[in-house]
Amino acid sequence: MDETVIRIRNLHKRFGDLHVVKGVDLEVKRGERIAIIGASGSGKSTILRCLNFMEMPSEGTIELDGKLLGTEGRANGGRAGRIYSEAELCALRTRVGMVFQQFNLFPHMTVLENVMEGLITVKRTSKDAARSRATEQLTKVGLLDKLDAYPGKLSGGQQQRVAIARALAMEPEVLLFDEPTSSLDPELVGEVLRVIHALAEEGRTMLLVTHELGFAYHFADRVVFIADGVVHETGTADEVLKHPKRERTQAFLARFTERAF
Ligand SMILES: Nc1ncnc2c1ncn2[C@@H]1O[C@H](COP(=O)(O)OP(=O)(O)OP(=O)(O)O)[C@@H](O)[C@H]1O
Ligand SMILES: [Mg+2]
Repeated sequence: MDETVIRIRNLHKRFGDLHVVKGVDLEVKRGERIAIIGASGSGKSTILRCLNFMEMPSEGTIELDGKLLGTEGRANGGRAGRIYSEAELCALRTRVGMVFQQFNLFPHMTVLENVMEGLITVKRTSKDAARSRATEQLTKVGLLDKLDAYPGKLSGGQQQRVAIARALAMEPEVLLFDEPTSSLDPELVGEVLRVIHALAEEGRTMLLVTHELGFAYHFADRVVFIADGVVHETGTADEVLKHPKRERTQAFLARFTERAF
C-alpha cells in the first residue's frame, strides 16, 4: 500500500520566458487521492499536463512505477535534457488517464463510439471487446440509456461522465482530473462529483485539481497547495484546509466564503 506510483522530481516548465512550474516534487502512492488547489495561473493545469506529457517538462524527471521516463539526451542539439519517444508517451497515456474541464469529446461520434475509440486505436482492442468494455464503463457512470446519443445532445454533466467513462475504459493506473466540474452549471456538479467519489471508494489513484474545497476536504488523503509554480504547502485535508500553517495558504482559503467542512 506504500508503493509509489508516480514520483515527480524538480519539475520545471517554461513557456518561452515565462517560468510557470518552478521545481515541483511530488510523490503519489498507490490508492492515494490528492487534491491540488491554488489560485488561477499558479500552474496547476500545467503540472497535470506535464504528468501525462501533453506538455513537455522543461526540466526534471517523472517516474512511473519506479521506472524513470525518457532518456538523457540533447533535444534538437540544444541543452541536455530528457528525450521521450512517441511510443513511450503513448504507452504512458494509457496508464495515466486525464479528464478535462471541457470534456474534449468527439462531436461527430456517439457516446459509445467516443468511449470505444481509444480502446480500438490505441489499445488495439477488437471492436466487440471495445463495445462491451465501453458499455460497462458507461453503465458505471449511469449513462446506459445514452449510448447512441451525440455529445451535443447531452448536458454538461452527462458529457463529463462520458469523458470519465472514456478515461476509465483504458484501465489507467492513475487518473488526473483538471477541474472536472468548473464548466458545469451548479445543479450538474453533484452528479459528476458522485462519480468521482465512487471511484475514490474503489481505491483508485487520483489527482484532482479543483476549486470545490468542500469536496476536496472529503475526497483527499492529501491536499497540495500550489502558489507561483511551487508546492507551497501540503498535508492532510485537515492540515491544509482547516489549519493551514502558511500565510499565503490562509489568504487563499479566506477567499472562499462557503466552506462546507
Ligand atoms: N501553452 C501555453 N503557452 C504559454 N503560456 C501558458 C501555456 N499554458 C499555460 N500558460 C501560462 O502558464 C501559467 C499557468 O497556467 P495554468 O493553466 O497551469 O494555471 P492554473 O493554475 O491551472 O490556473 P486556472 O486555475 O485558471 O486553471 C499561466 O500564466 C498561463 O497563462
Ligand atoms: Mg487550470
